[in-house]
Amino acid sequence: MSIDIATEIDLNNELILDGEAAATLFLEARTANSWSDEEISDETLQAIYALTKMGPTAFNSQPLRITWVRSTEARERLVEHMMDGNKAKTLTAPMVAVLSFSKEWHALMPTTAPHMAEMMMPMFEANVESRTAAGNNNAHMQAGYFILAARAAGLAVGPMTGFNPAGVDTVFNADNSHQSFMVVNLGKPAGTSTHERLTRLDFDLATATV
Ligand SMILES: Cc1cc2nc3c(=O)[nH]c(=O)nc-3n(C[C@H](O)[C@H](O)[C@H](O)COP(=O)(O)O)c2cc1C
Repeated sequence: MSIDIATEIDLNNELILDGEAAATLFLEARTANSWSDEEISDETLQAIYALTKMGPTAFNSQPLRITWVRSTEARERLVEHMMDGNKAKTLTAPMVAVLSFSKEWHALMPTTAPHMAEMMMPMFEANVESRTAAGNNNAHMQAGYFILAARAAGLAVGPMTGFNPAGVDTVFNADNSHQSFMVVNLGKPAGTSTHERLTRLDFDLATATV
């Protein structure tokens, strides 16, 4: 399948992905706000994580932690801490993922980065500010990989930051050192998006060559 979406450049000449993959991951994928009732299997969730975890992070830190919110009871507790406009779609999505970052991600460095653990672990243990910033930043990168991984598994996503993280943490992160930063609805969308895609910034506006 070739790509017939007009962009500033003919993507068919530049990409090694086939057109269907480019459409599924980027060009035709839309943020979803309403859902079919098709369920998502545990195997699909494992496939999404199998792709997500391969995306690069600084120090191979992998600070992302995911809570899959399947039960009605857990969703109701979640939406208590969400903006009103985000509640209905979160209650009806086939699956909801609460994305958090570990504030103690450095403790796994002997596994994730054994070649630098001896030097870097004490530094991150002592410097909470730098550890938290690295955890937050790298988990946000992993959230991007997560969104594309879900699309690769044939799902649409509805990422949201319109919620109160401290409130969500009282529900899902009370017994750990994780901090929530994004909630992502997942599923097959009900119909197509109701509004035109918003303008994306042109190459010349968003980039500079020096
Ligand atoms: C990090 C992030 C946070 C978002 N938060 C919300 C939200 O709280 N509520 C909402 O309705 N949409 C939210 N969105 C959806 C965006 O507005 C939407 O993805 C964007 O406009 C692109 O839409 P498109 O994929 O249909 O082109 C969020 C998206 C991202 C990536």
